[in-house]
Amino acid sequence: MTSQDSDRDWWRTAVVYQVYPRSFADSDGDGIGDLRGLIQRLDHLERLGVDVVWLSPIYRSPQDDNGYDISDYQDIDPTFGTLADVDELIAAMHERGMRLMMDLVVNHTSDEHPWFVESRSSTDNPKRDWYWWRPPREGMAGGTPGAEPNNWESAFSGTVWEHDEASGEYYLHVFSRKQPDLNWENPEVREAVYAMMRWWLDRGVDGFRMDVINLISKDPALPDGIVHAGTYGDSSPYLINGPRIHEFLAEMHREVMQGRDRKILTVGETPGATVEDGLLYTDAARRELDMVFTFEHVGVDHAQTKWDLIPLQLTALKAVLGRWQVGLADVGWNSLYWNNHDQPRAVSRFGDDGAWRERSAKLLGTVLHLHRGTPYVYQGEELGMTNHPFGSIDEFRDIESLNHHAQAVGLGVDPDRVLESLRSRGRDNARTPMQWDASPHAGFTTGEPWLPVNPNHTEVNAEAATADEGSVFHHYRRLIELRHQEPVVALGDFTMLLPDDEAVYAFTRSLDDVELLVVANFSGEPVGADVDVAAWADAEVLLDNVGHAAAAWDGRLEPWQALVLRRTR
Ligand code: NOJ
Repeated sequence: MTSQDSDRDWWRTAVVYQVYPRSFADSDGDGIGDLRGLIQRLDHLERLGVDVVWLSPIYRSPQDDNGYDISDYQDIDPTFGTLADVDELIAAMHERGMRLMMDLVVNHTSDEHPWFVESRSSTDNPKRDWYWWRPPREGMAGGTPGAEPNNWESAFSGTVWEHDEASGEYYLHVFSRKQPDLNWENPEVREAVYAMMRWWLDRGVDGFRMDVINLISKDPALPDGIVHAGTYGDSSPYLINGPRIHEFLAEMHREVMQGRDRKILTVGETPGATVEDGLLYTDAARRELDMVFTFEHVGVDHAQTKWDLIPLQLTALKAVLGRWQVGLADVGWNSLYWNNHDQPRAVSRFGDDGAWRERSAKLLGTVLHLHRGTPYVYQGEELGMTNHPFGSIDEFRDIESLNHHAQAVGLGVDPDRVLESLRSRGRDNARTPMQWDASPHAGFTTGEPWLPVNPNHTEVNAEAATADEGSVFHHYRRLIELRHQEPVVALGDFTMLLPDDEAVYAFTRSLDDVELLVVANFSGEPVGADVDVAAWADAEVLLDNVGHAAAAWDGRLEPWQALVLRRTR
């Protein structure tokens, strides 16, 4: 391997930190986070030791879906700052040895993007075909119930079709009606997207997190889906991992990433991707993506939809994560995450955000970071931030939650039940302001925050955590340091142990003569772990989350205890 090649492999030992800019740090008192706020808080990220920041969208946007509806890919929304602020951010990050990964949202634009404004202006506009326009269902009058071109349901409730009075046609929007889907079949669309990506790389960004990227290739026939329940059909066979997806991603790699003077890091958000799909997307030889976000492990406590609350089974979680570890072991690469801006807070979902908050937060960090792949830390996870105690529907801001509430209550579901789901699964849980200190708005803003601050910020905050060597923050810092220092953490083989155990998550990692054992008790009761304890009697304790682990481990685990042991063969 040449030195240039090995430099290009830096990312395999990297840890990524996700910033949701709206909720991270507000520098100007308008209650919304911004770029200058982020620049001012880079010390926090440097202290934690992360290598890469994934920044959720900051582009110009009407903010219908908090920036995932973009009206200008090459400008910054005034709420967040200016292009000069981004340049300063990039320089400040590079100076600290950190890299910047931008969110790339190209499955759809905003309906206020000039491309769509033109496309909408007439049926013969040159950009008409940049989006998915279709006439009403045959024999039906546009705008009447059932006249939609097909029976697909939007991810944000209701139909995927919006009727355009002026032309009498409908346009497709898989997300909100203000997020029309781009037609990737049209080569001009692809060229425009690639040109925009190159422009960002020339500006100095180091990679892209690609929003719902496995939705960009659709079956152009857009056929009705099979109706399993309710009114809508299943669009997934025609929408997810579509017929030309691999062709498009390989083309993007060729047109944008290839031939650059530095490694460009890419991660695709891929709902509905199986391990087999993941392998195709991330096989380095295929030159598509470095890694993808699987959704399988964040679906283990979902029934038909994410709003149906079913208890989490540890065996199910292990089965999924273990399958991805094995599936992508030799070819491909995993990304590892418990939460992000779309998911509830990890400690509230997989841990115990009451009596064992700190300990279970450290356990979750330990288990995740000791897997093979690239760990992602979502802002506040390193503090053990929890779900928010939402009172009424009026406190929610997220379009997904508000639309779901309106639809479900409209269909006669008990509003209290709907609220219970929102409290547990709503995306606003992850979006309450970052808790910097114990002051009234948690040091996030001097104004009125756009979403309420969690009342537990008086206890759970960065200032307190950085001052306490025993905090969740310092545990995460050690985990990141361990990954940087101990090659087996990033690169070792993974073997799952005790797949049928409902309380203990256990696995080994091995590289050359070094072996690690990771054991974690996902319960509030003491347990015994059924592993070969004698074989680990002389092992060194690399990390534990209770602060007083015995020198020679006897196989017992305290409530929510997680241990990492190391031995050489
Ligand atoms: C996935 C993003 O993570 C989510 O926040 C957004 O609502 C949808 N894609 C649509 O862009």
